[in-house]
Amino acid sequence: MVKCAIILAAGEGKRMKSSTPKVLHKVCGKEMVNHVIDTMRKANIEEVNVVIGKGAEKVKESTNSRHVSYSFQDKQLGTGHAIICAKEFLKGKKGIVAIFAGDAPLIEASTVESLMELHEKEGYKATILTSIVENPTGYGRIVRNINGDVEKIVEHKDCSQSELNINEVNSAIYCFDIENLIESLDKLTNNNAQGEYYLTDVIGILKEQKHKVGAMAVKFEETLGVNSRVQLAEAEMLLRKRINKKHMENGVTLIDPNSTYIGPDVEIHCDTIIYPNNVIEGSTIIKDNCILYPNSRIVDSIIGSGVNIQSSVILESTIGQETTVGPFAYIRPETVVGKHARIGDFVEIKKSTIGDNTKVSHLTYIGDAEVGSGCNFGCGTVVVNYDGKNKYKTIIGNNSFIGCNTNLVSPVKVQDNTYIAAGSTITNEVPEGSLAIARAKQVTLKGWVEKKGLLKK
Ligand code: UD1
Ligand code: CA
Repeated sequence: MVKCAIILAAGEGKRMKSSTPKVLHKVCGKEMVNHVIDTMRKANIEEVNVVIGKGAEKVKESTNSRHVSYSFQDKQLGTGHAIICAKEFLKGKKGIVAIFAGDAPLIEASTVESLMELHEKEGYKATILTSIVENPTGYGRIVRNINGDVEKIVEHKDCSQSELNINEVNSAIYCFDIENLIESLDKLTNNNAQGEYYLTDVIGILKEQKHKVGAMAVKFEETLGVNSRVQLAEAEMLLRKRINKKHMENGVTLIDPNSTYIGPDVEIHCDTIIYPNNVIEGSTIIKDNCILYPNSRIVDSIIGSGVNIQSSVILESTIGQETTVGPFAYIRPETVVGKHARIGDFVEIKKSTIGDNTKVSHLTYIGDAEVGSGCNFGCGTVVVNYDGKNKYKTIIGNNSFIGCNTNLVSPVKVQDNTYIAAGSTITNEVPEGSLAIARAKQVTLKGWVEKKGLLKK
């Protein structure tokens, strides 16, 4: 028996007032549709089909790495029509299909699993995920009979006065028996207030045929559908709360959870302390006992145990344990910094490795370089890696002392245990154990100021 899913993501999302398709708007740094796909995977649904239409290419591009298949809905004639467009995907399958809206990113995997379990256990042909809300405006209402059984779903715009008072609403998340769903799709009409083919009408159709239909109510925050920027911000806040709570429960200190922005796929180990205004994104891993002082952005990086970071940007890089970064460091992609190192203020490092115990304390640029361990960079060192056309590599051995205001013109090699005098521009290899000085000799003219008549008394 198959367990598959369809995600509806063809709509334009007019109410967003955006040139980006609605389902690609991000919540906590991840596109809404990708939240839904990732949740499917967590709920062990293997085969996922995404119905695309408006901005199809963009949606395809953003979801591609997640190994889903696509159906195409040329004209957005309603959610039922969207499923008709996915018939090819359902053809020949026997089992359950779960249907999700690409604009409801807060659904949790455990809820999807419970919905499927209930569906199977009760032998329902359709099971609807619902919530009870104070203000049901805009949502489809769940109409039940006197026995409390679900009868049908009525869209807000089609509701009678008494139906408008119902506060159990459709989340647009359901499980269906595949064969029954396909059969019912042929019976859909667009005879309603919006002139659309509603998926919600399938429920009434199944009931008329005396099939068993069920519903499971969950808290509203899991089913929130994002139709506007205001709801996007609401979803962001709810998910942020959920993520931050999980980290605190795992032993991470958040000084102010309301101003800490952690992506859904970030991993943080215990006893790490995070101060306000940190933004941690992508697949970042932060090990234990780190301190993130305020104002850093860390993306797709691995931060070792006991690292301190302050007011810095770290992108696609690895920082070794007990190293300190910042304030105001900029660590660009493909950088690997070793253990017990120091990357200080106004230091930029790009695509370079920095060995253990090396100190790059102030005002320095290192690009396309391999730097050994135990080195010390004086203030204002520049690796001159670019000649206007090509980029070249610089290699610096272990225990090298690079004096202040040095230029290292690439490609160049500085061997182990060397000293470079301050103010040098190094263009030739510096052999092991030597001192290199590459600057003009000082000339001192005694009494020059007085001779020139410039002496102030
Ligand atoms: C839908 C439900 C409503 C429910 C609400 C919950 C229907 C008819 N109504 O209303 O009962 O309470 O969700 O949020 O299903 N889409 C397509 N193709 C289309 C139309 C929509 O792919 O032709 C996609 C949209 O991209 C979106 C999802 O389906 O991701 C829901 O569509 P939307 O127009 O937002 O439906 P609602 O009016 O919110
Ligand atoms: Ca919606």
